[in-house]
Amino acid sequence: MLDRAHNAPDLPAEIARRRTFAIISHPDAGKTTLTEKFLLYGGAIQMAGQVRAKGEARRTRSDFMQMEKDRGISVSASAMSFDFASGDANYRFNLVDTPGHSDFSEDTYRTLTAVDAAIMVIDGAKGVESQTQKLFEVCRLRDLPILTFCNKMDRESRDTFEIIDEIQENLAIDVTPASWPIGVGREFVGCYDVLNDRLEIMDRADRNKVAESIKIAGLDDPKLADHVPAHLLDQLREELEMAKELLPKFDAQAFLDGTLTPIWFGSAINSFGVKELMDGIGRYGPVPQPQSAEPRHIGPDENKVMGFVFKVQANMDPKHRDRVAFVRLASGHFTRGQKLTHVRTKKPMAISNPVLFLASDRELAEEAWAGDIIGIPNHGQLRIGDTLTEGEAIRVTGIPSFAPELLQNCRAGDPMKAKHLEKALMQFAEEGAAKVFKPNIGSGFIVGVVGALQFEVLASRIEMEYGLPVRFEPSQFTSARWVSGPKAAVDKFVNANKQHISHDNDGDIVFMTRLQWDIDRVERDYPELTLSATKEMM
Ligand code: G4P
Repeated sequence: MLDRAHNAPDLPAEIARRRTFAIISHPDAGKTTLTEKFLLYGGAIQMAGQVRAKGEARRTRSDFMQMEKDRGISVSASAMSFDFASGDANYRFNLVDTPGHSDFSEDTYRTLTAVDAAIMVIDGAKGVESQTQKLFEVCRLRDLPILTFCNKMDRESRDTFEIIDEIQENLAIDVTPASWPIGVGREFVGCYDVLNDRLEIMDRADRNKVAESIKIAGLDDPKLADHVPAHLLDQLREELEMAKELLPKFDAQAFLDGTLTPIWFGSAINSFGVKELMDGIGRYGPVPQPQSAEPRHIGPDENKVMGFVFKVQANMDPKHRDRVAFVRLASGHFTRGQKLTHVRTKKPMAISNPVLFLASDRELAEEAWAGDIIGIPNHGQLRIGDTLTEGEAIRVTGIPSFAPELLQNCRAGDPMKAKHLEKALMQFAEEGAAKVFKPNIGSGFIVGVVGALQFEVLASRIEMEYGLPVRFEPSQFTSARWVSGPKAAVDKFVNANKQHISHDNDGDIVFMTRLQWDIDRVERDYPELTLSATKEMM
């Protein structure tokens, strides 16, 4: 793992002001509402309500995915960029949207390879829910720094210590209060900003009004009594006293290492606590981090432009059959029209129509810096895991492809359309939406996914985007393992196990079986071979 640095003084100012992060949460905790307030304070939208409206517009546009509408899940992830001024600093925030549904964990994992930090939103009444926990585990794999936002404090919520305890216990991470709530539910008046010694008072009458902020000289300041009812003030003093004794202090390094999370309390719908959280991201959040790559790491301060594809989205607009590769810039200053080398194919690519995703719309990216996410429209050359450089043969690592947990046979409703089906499946495989295996023996394809819902998504997309009705049927196999090793050993193995061998969409050899026993047997009988459940995307 690479060391995480904070505001490295030698970084160009444009890079040092960038904060690239994702929001993770359980559905309904308030991610959309919080995103909307972020954009509102970032000046990217004028009115609350636009993100949702945009979400609906997007859904209408992607009507081909009836399911997305029916189930209210968001299948399309995107990135949004906006500026945020805080004190003397002006930050550029890049917010990468994570798909919330548990069926898209692989996609989510890869999305999280493109960010430097994550905001974990929890519902103050519900605490750490299942999806939060799962997403947190993914962040932990990458030691991402986490900022926590405890939302819906305007409603009846749990006791503050109980919430903090739950996070510490369930997620095994230290928690330090960045703010402390005063009163609960109807009695909730606001928060004490622990990091800045301020009192933030929520305005219940106007949901879009940002909290009144009052500078306080410690807990004995008589000004407190002017704003907080006496019984709540006593409680606040008592609780903060206890918090001081029981909870760790904010420690910037522990936060960057991912072992300590600061928690803010607020109410996104009431615009409360959001600005403080944004200030926190700006002030403490990591600058663009080094990227692990082969044969060497990429530093954000390097002059040459390097970036990698972490997501490919096809047919965003069914009318145009366009494909957008989402690229996280790992270093340098990119300008529109720049020629970059596509490392996998060693071919030059002129990037003439890169897009930046601003809240209201996409627009051409005239320039971008390390930390930014740009979208590159292309015709399928760019795949997940691909690296772009100014010529150097360097490959970004750490973007895995997981062995699918569910396998099914896929057949075209019309057997004459097998070639069409192959094309459609290959495209989804490149997009990272599924694994496609072509068995050595027999016809048809085996499609592998991580979550069951993806079969339905695929079937409906193939039908809508390619006019091809398809059937998914149970496969005789339940596990897939990539095979690697010395050529002679691989050949011998393949010859002896023909009925179990497929090739994936990159042409790599895969062993398919339904028995763990089989996998153990191969490992015993062919000690030179490695059977692997993940494959680096390359
Ligand atoms: P999500 O993206 O994480 O799924 O959550 P979203 O923002 O859509 O919020 C889920 C519900 O919680 C919404 O209500 C939203 O208005 C509400 N909500 C968000 N923040 C707060 C808060 O601070 N306090 C309270 N009391 N509610 C909050 P809904 O009824 O599902 O939708 P809507 O009718 O309000 O649009």
